[in-house]
Amino acid sequence: MTTAPTVRVWDLPVRLFHWAIVLLVPALWWAAETGRMELHMLLGEIMLGLILFRLLWGLLGSSTARFSGFVKGPRAVLRYLRGERRYVGHNPLGGWSVLLMLLVLATQVGLGLFASDEDGIHAGPLARHMPDLESAHTLAARHETMFWVLATLIALHVLAILYYRIVKRDDLVTPMVTGRQPAGEGREALVPAPLWRLLLSVGLAAAIAFVIVLYL
Ligand code: HEM
Ligand code: HEM
Repeated sequence: MTTAPTVRVWDLPVRLFHWAIVLLVPALWWAAETGRMELHMLLGEIMLGLILFRLLWGLLGSSTARFSGFVKGPRAVLRYLRGERRYVGHNPLGGWSVLLMLLVLATQVGLGLFASDEDGIHAGPLARHMPDLESAHTLAARHETMFWVLATLIALHVLAILYYRIVKRDDLVTPMVTGRQPAGEGREALVPAPLWRLLLSVGLAAAIAFVIVLYL
């Protein structure tokens, strides 16, 4: 039996990041809804580190992880909509939805850092920089609204993936697990980033997250 040739499309950091946030978002929601605020904030701070890492990896990472690799102008999006399939990694339309999802996640984390409940008992590590408790509590209301924006985007994201699977017969989930996709015409493998860039991105993300949480 011969196995079909495949190409590498997602590096390990992108895949680990993805499946970690898939676990973290429901865990954050569950912890907040059941009043486990210490746990909620700990998980939120881990999410802060992950988002910082993904933003840095979007600048320094391998070719399919980079924003410059998947955030394309309107012409590329139109060509994609007309049927052109010369891309590896996120398609030109999906690239924008990925960017939007990362921005909404970052905003959600940012609001959480400054948010406080109404009596100031459970408050993000930066809430004391807010002018008063009332404004920190207002941010908590925005944090709640933003959660529903995020939940809507996630629902659309999963529907889009199902659409690709059922209508276009394109399995996107297996590559997000294994990192590999069937080789196809014009489908080149990703260009990996050297290890030092991974270490730099992880180190910087962790350092920035620690400073924000512990020292600001
Ligand atoms: C909490 C829920 C989820 C969030 C916040 C989320 C977020 C994201 C983000 C940010 C990306 C871009 C990855 C990157 O370049 O860093 C992505 C891609 C992807 N996600 Fe999710 N995701 C969620 C749930 C899921 C689920 C449940 C599935 C599987 C059914 C899934 C399958 C995928 C796939 C296949 C891609 C790659 C799409 C492509 O080929 O362009 N995601 N997701
Ligand atoms: C993607 C990351 C996050 C998600 C999905 C998320 C989600 C939520 C949800 C669903 C609630 C309950 C809202 C309500 O029903 O009132 C909540 C509350 C809260 N979150 Fe987050 N959160 C995130 C990150 C953070 C971070 C990083 C912090 C701070 C370190 C934080 C601090 C808080 C606080 C203080 C509340 C309580 C507000 C109140 O009781 O009025 N969250 N969060």
